[in-house]
Amino acid sequence: MFPWALRHLPGPHQQIFRYQEAVRGFIRYEIIRHKLKKPEAPKDFISCYLARITKAMDDPVSTFNEENLIQVVIDLFLGGTDTTATTLRWALIYMVHHGAIQERVQQELDTVLGTAQAVCYEDRERLPYARAVLHEVQRLSSVVAVGAVRQCVTSTCVRGYYIPKGTVILPNLASVLYDPECWETPRQFNPGHFLDKDGNFVVNEAFLPFSAGHRVCPGDQLARMELFLMFTTLLRTFRFQLPEGSPGLRLDYIFGGTLQPQSQEICAVPRLCSPSPGPKEGDL
Ligand code: HEM
Repeated sequence: MFPWALRHLPGPHQQIFRYQEAVRGFIRYEIIRHKLKKPEAPKDFISCYLARITKAMDDPVSTFNEENLIQVVIDLFLGGTDTTATTLRWALIYMVHHGAIQERVQQELDTVLGTAQAVCYEDRERLPYARAVLHEVQRLSSVVAVGAVRQCVTSTCVRGYYIPKGTVILPNLASVLYDPECWETPRQFNPGHFLDKDGNFVVNEAFLPFSAGHRVCPGDQLARMELFLMFTTLLRTFRFQLPEGSPGLRLDYIFGGTLQPQSQEICAVPRLCSPSPGPKEGDL
């Protein structure tokens, strides 16, 4: 209710503020490092943003300034690391849990990619099953089940409901991702949700793990690319399974900023028939 009050109350959460200051300090250092570089065409986000600050120097209402730059960099790291890493962890857990699905993904990868050295994002068009599996991972794991907290800047009406200015909004993305009217088996892992009867990949409009509208995740394209490349590369290279004597998988989640899987051990066994040939003697 009173987030500002947390700063003044003693307790373990004060550690969060200390970490936050350390991160801000690191970004400040990076900004200084960028400013000290010889002038050249901006190459990365910080140098582009700095160029924009200079350009908007005479604009009294410009929001481009160093404090905002620090915050945007923090937002990108916050939004872009835990979400993607957690989705990948779920992907591996589901692959262990559904061994037959894992094998089918690997068969498709072997057949389509053969001995190609690396997977590229364009390959997704030729890998409908792997793509469907990854979409199903994102749907069922619903990593950002409750989207970012928003506040209504003006009073409005949505489907007959009056929402006054200042209302805090928590979008319930899980309600769409598990909607029984949109998914055949909403609570089960079923890549068929994204496949037609001929095995082609199909889009489902209720697939909204990145939310929708003006405030849709700005990193969704980057995340899709990262997830596809990492997931397919991992599955090409390893078979994932439970270690001997394991008590079994735990599929219940921990509710934090994201829905995290339980910490548990799984084995990555190199695939003997790995299609990636590695460097030949003459190449070394
Ligand atoms: C599997 C990966 C990801 C998922 C599931 C995800 C999901 C989301 C969701 C649901 C939101 C809230 C949208 C809303 O309020 O309606 C969001 C916001 C955001 N995401 Fe992502 N995201 C992912 C990856 C990334 C990546 C890779 C980046 C950047 C490198 C990123 C940066 C952000 C930022 C900066 C926001 C806040 C945007 C704003 O305040 O308008 N996300 N994300």
